Amino acid sequence: MLSEKKLSQRYERLFKQLQELLKKTEETVSHMATVIAILHHKMPRFLWTGFYVLKNDLLIVGPYQGPLACQVLGEKKGVCWASVLEQKTIIVPDVHKFPGHIACDSRSNSEIVVPLINSKGSAWAILDIDSRDFNSFSQVDKEWLEKIVKLI
Ligand code: SME
Repeated sequence: MLSEKKLSQRYERLFKQLQELLKKTEETVSHMATVIAILHHKMPRFLWTGFYVLKNDLLIVGPYQGPLACQVLGEKKGVCWASVLEQKTIIVPDVHKFPGHIACDSRSNSEIVVPLINSKGSAWAILDIDSRDFNSFSQVDKEWLEKIVKLI
């Protein structure tokens, strides 16, 4: 595992790369797909990296990389819904201990979910990242992923 300093330096490089890449179009879906491609391929511990978008009271899967995921999160339970309802980032060190956790892939052991907040202050989507390792996500991940989703 990378030291906090090395991890922060890596995120900083990815952030700068994304700032340049996202200037090429204003399409939201292209921005989302590019963020996922960069994060998933530059962070080997990420098993599944993707977005869910809120539509008609459902969370519908958006651009993602990794194994096939749940297409729709309908019941208001699990980590993604908790992040939407509480409008904050949630770090789960052990998904098996999170009440209502929805297991799309049995290899996932820890997770971070970051909400995307619109100009009216409501969550319209979430970034969800799963890891094979327990305890995979720190405040460094939270800080940088919150900055990265603001680029979208
Ligand atoms: N674990 C999530 C569901 C989405 S998958 O991890 C891709 C949850 O509990 O909401």
